Amino acid sequence: MNTKNEKTVDDRLKHIAFIMDGNGRWAKKRGMPRSFGHKHGAKAFRNVVEYCGKIGIKHVTVYAFSTENWGRPQGEIDSIIELLDKYIDECAQNMEKYDVRLRFIGDMTPFDDKLKAKIKSIEEMTKDKSLILDVALNYGGRAEIVNACNRLIKEGKTNITEDDISRTLYTAGAPDPDLIVRTAGEMRLSNFLMWQSAYSEFYFTDTLWPDMGPADVDLAVEEFYKRKRRFGKVL
Ligand code: IPE
Ligand code: IPE
Ligand code: MG
Repeated sequence: MNTKNEKTVDDRLKHIAFIMDGNGRWAKKRGMPRSFGHKHGAKAFRNVVEYCGKIGIKHVTVYAFSTENWGRPQGEIDSIIELLDKYIDECAQNMEKYDVRLRFIGDMTPFDDKLKAKIKSIEEMTKDKSLILDVALNYGGRAEIVNACNRLIKEGKTNITEDDISRTLYTAGAPDPDLIVRTAGEMRLSNFLMWQSAYSEFYFTDTLWPDMGPADVDLAVEEFYKRKRRFGKVL
């Protein structure tokens, strides 16, 4: 484990994305409601983001709520949104401690005006911070691509390029994730960053998200540096 908090990554690993999975199972193991798992998941999220900053990662994306997660019980949905709302408040009140450029990717239209305003305000307040933290909220990779195509149609395009799609995605301008980490043993993308993950490395761990911490991030980073990224070429 990188206990000295030294920078351990270089330009090969600029962007890590996390599919934060397993909060429900973590709670179930303890005989607690799923919301309890999300609460502890939110703690792990703070720890992991802080640690990524310490080791020199420049860009972190987390999958917080998918377009499919609306199919969950309303109480659980509310508990997840409340935790995010609380995180935004804490970030606003303690910008030194959190030290992130907070941005949201996804379709924000279903959220109430208060939350939308908070999101806008925190994005503006933190825009000069160097560690980018993109929170995928009401995010779906397919919806994102469809939205990009509709924007291009509105622009009057009749023939589109890969660059056109990239620049109209929610993630426009961001580097593609070098490494995607998914916790809780599931080995799938679940509609996360489908376009952007074309050449990402994947790391899966059985660790449930609320148990995720620096030691697990170190393992993922270590594994990443063992991979040979060929991007279709011959090395
Ligand atoms: C991830 O944990 C959090 C969200 C999807 C919001 P889950 O809630 O999916 O936990 P499991 O997969 O049911 O254990
Ligand atoms: C993916 O996890 C979504 C988030 C982590 C926000 P899910 O728990 O929703 O994914 P599935 O249902 O196991 O594919
Ligand atoms: Mg899950």
